[in-house]
Amino acid sequence: MNVLRFTDLCAQGKVTGQRVFIRADLNVPQDDAGNITEDTRIRASVPCIRQALDAGAAVMVTSHLGRPTEGEFKPEDSLAPVAKRLGELLGREVPLVSNWVDGVQVQPGQVVLLENCRLNKGEKKNDEALSRKLAALTDIYVNDAFGTAHRAEATTYGIAQFAKIACAGPLLAAEIDAITKALAQPKRPLAAIVAGSKVSTKLTILKSLADKVDQLVVGGGIANTFMLASGLKIGKSLAEPDLIDEAKAVIEAMRARGAGVPIPVDVVTAKTFAADAAATIKAAQDVDDDDLILDIGPKTAELLAAQLREAGTIVWNGPVGVFEFDAFANGTKVIARAIAESKAFSIAGGGDTLAAIAKYGIEDKVGYISTGGGAFLEVLEGKKLPAFEILEKRAA
Ligand code: 3PG
Repeated sequence: MNVLRFTDLCAQGKVTGQRVFIRADLNVPQDDAGNITEDTRIRASVPCIRQALDAGAAVMVTSHLGRPTEGEFKPEDSLAPVAKRLGELLGREVPLVSNWVDGVQVQPGQVVLLENCRLNKGEKKNDEALSRKLAALTDIYVNDAFGTAHRAEATTYGIAQFAKIACAGPLLAAEIDAITKALAQPKRPLAAIVAGSKVSTKLTILKSLADKVDQLVVGGGIANTFMLASGLKIGKSLAEPDLIDEAKAVIEAMRARGAGVPIPVDVVTAKTFAADAAATIKAAQDVDDDDLILDIGPKTAELLAAQLREAGTIVWNGPVGVFEFDAFANGTKVIARAIAESKAFSIAGGGDTLAAIAKYGIEDKVGYISTGGGAFLEVLEGKKLPAFEILEKRAA
């Protein structure tokens, strides 16, 4: 993907003294009192801001927080807690600026945080007049917000159309490089793990990956629907029987390419969905009518782990069992360890996946951990993200 990169502009000395507008994704979870409960996205945004400051730019940073109503400020929509955390990470005060669309006072060597960009009228609809005003604030527009790259909004798309220069920040560039390495030019075999509660929410991903990957490992409720499609009984496990034909089509598409969708040979079941429910390992064909499948069995986990260890590239989205309950965590743990041990380039993304990576402490052993939720899923669906599209156009 050919986009202009902020790091290159800095190295070429083109940033010194310039007004730089950075669109970051600082949309972090908060508790009821507004305290930030997880700050990965803020930490991930720091290198770009530092780069701009080190280059001697006048730096404006903005982000959305939640989904506020445009034009209606409420205290809980404020980026104030983010400004405080960002200040701690940068080791300097980060002033928060409200009502900034018509002009921002900032000098070279200074950084300001511009209040929640989704409070501006026209942001969500990518309004042209707003986008032109935003573009007029800056010499260089930097998109460093992969988490919002699937949104065509004024700060993610419109401003990039009209700014003098539009480029990708280091975080966005790293995401682009990892995605290219994993999906556009993968080292084979390419294995994907797609797990989650429902086939329906990930059907487009499954179909898109069925054209690309050598192994499509399904897990969770998705695997249950695929077990039904393979003629197995799943008791009262979560599944979507009306999507059996879709699951069969995915299996058939893979088979036609000489690729496979491994179906579990054993499972871990319980009679109730509870952390203290008794766990029983059984062969896939022995599931009883009152059983709930809550994890893949140890034989299946080992078979999959062996395939992952041999893979050239691994894409991971979703835990394969109810890993929050220790009795049903083995499958996800074995998969996580296999990914960690594999020489394959691995890319992982999606909320639950990140929680599993943290639980098994393999952060340093995954090739790339995406900061995107919905954006990462849209990449897996094979969609071209609007933020990538406009940056490519501007680089042409
Ligand atoms: C996310 O949390 O996935 C991103 O920040 C995008 O948020 P959005 O779905 O509100 O656009």
